[in-house]
Amino acid sequence: MGSPGLRAAREKMKAAGVDEVAVETFAHYYRLLEHGETGMIPESSIEPVDMESLADVEVDDEVATRAITETAVIKLNGGLGTSMGMDRAKSLLCVRRGLSFLDIIARQVLHLRQQHQARLPLIFMNSFRTSGDTMDALARYDDLPVAGLPLEFLQNKEPKLLVKDLSPVSWPKDPDLEWCPPGHGDLYTALRGTGLLDQLIEAGYRYVFVSNSDNLGAVPDPRVAGWFAASGAPFAIEAVRRTASDRKGGHFARRKSDGRIVLRETAQTLEEDKAALGDLERHRFTSTNNLWFDLQAMKDALDQREGILGLPLIKNVKNVDPGDKKSPEVIQVETAMGAAIEVFEGARLIEVGRDRFVPVKTTNDLLVLRSDVYAIGKDFVLDQEAEQVPFVELDETYYKLVGEFDKRFPEGAPSLKQAQRLSIAGDVTFGHGVSVVGDVTVGGRSAQRVEPGAVLSGDPDA
Ligand code: UTP
Repeated sequence: MGSPGLRAAREKMKAAGVDEVAVETFAHYYRLLEHGETGMIPESSIEPVDMESLADVEVDDEVATRAITETAVIKLNGGLGTSMGMDRAKSLLCVRRGLSFLDIIARQVLHLRQQHQARLPLIFMNSFRTSGDTMDALARYDDLPVAGLPLEFLQNKEPKLLVKDLSPVSWPKDPDLEWCPPGHGDLYTALRGTGLLDQLIEAGYRYVFVSNSDNLGAVPDPRVAGWFAASGAPFAIEAVRRTASDRKGGHFARRKSDGRIVLRETAQTLEEDKAALGDLERHRFTSTNNLWFDLQAMKDALDQREGILGLPLIKNVKNVDPGDKKSPEVIQVETAMGAAIEVFEGARLIEVGRDRFVPVKTTNDLLVLRSDVYAIGKDFVLDQEAEQVPFVELDETYYKLVGEFDKRFPEGAPSLKQAQRLSIAGDVTFGHGVSVVGDVTVGGRSAQRVEPGAVLSGDPDA
């Protein structure tokens, strides 16, 4: 039965009605945590991995159309955007002209359905914290649900554990905060546990395309669907070239012992291998978290393992109340969806352009997305208008939290189409119609206002 902490956590989950396999999955990772399992991947055990590029592959139009008609789309929408100070789904945020991430995702899919006569169901994986708001926001799209399939499924929840003794935390002030979603690796457990995996197979779907709801570049593109279908692979992830800003992030590699593709995260890298991790010439590709899998292959893999894929553990330390830094420290036991690539023999990677990877992790990313760097066409696909995506660096004191950020751009984002870099150090509020040109740094000790219509310019070579 395990330690007292695990026993208490299990009982708490059962009392809350959490699915039995999800409880066992949690217990599996809890034991890894207790035994100090770190999931390290030494550099000596892997080698760089290469892959084909979407730009070079030939995809027959007919194959692409057939593949997209056999695909279901899942958007990961269970996270809370805590790094931007949110306690709701990030996808509710407005991107532009009153359209939120959710509106744009819904319209991208509705457009593709029409274009390809595809059923193309769109299904959100929500958590107990994101479901209500998300479903309310989607209610205006009468034609979005596909007959016989739900518009959402709920991921599981698990107790946050006190750092000091790994027991479930108690927080009577707001008992909801005693729980967290188990990371997006929970996708597989939740798909199987809710019965949706079987439902999709029975309804005749063969493939699933999953991506983050905060990445508007992740369109269910028939060409990629066609490539995946023709490859016959059970599982694939879209990768992009790493750049200097991804130096610290994870990368793909091939495990020498069995030739499987693995995803190595920073937390899984030994101190002595940090230089190799940061070597962009050696490990050239990182994950977009845009992922394709074959439904039957996924069902078989899960069934063979009694529902537990056994992904590497991610130990996330936070405060029980993320808004109160003095509240007790807790561990959130998580797994990442992309790590499942190592489970599948014959899994594939494909290099895609940055247009398929436009994640919004910080308010810096949000400012770019709200600006004129991208246009949004009739198909609701982002179209990069600027020659380059500018590097934006906002002062964390005044812009990190989305509420504070919004106050400083009351009239919307400035034009960044001609900007190379915008760095704000200090408290600066922008008027309407400001343009940034070249390499610009603004700020100072006291609060400032940039007048409406102002052009801020700086020489990129200065
Ligand atoms: P991230 O972890 O990058 O973003 O998840 P987040 O959770 O929204 O933000 P932070 O870390 O709290 O600031 C990437 C995607 O995975 C989803 C998120 O909604 C996002 O689309 N996700 C994350 C889930 O669906 N479930 C989870 O348990 C975690």
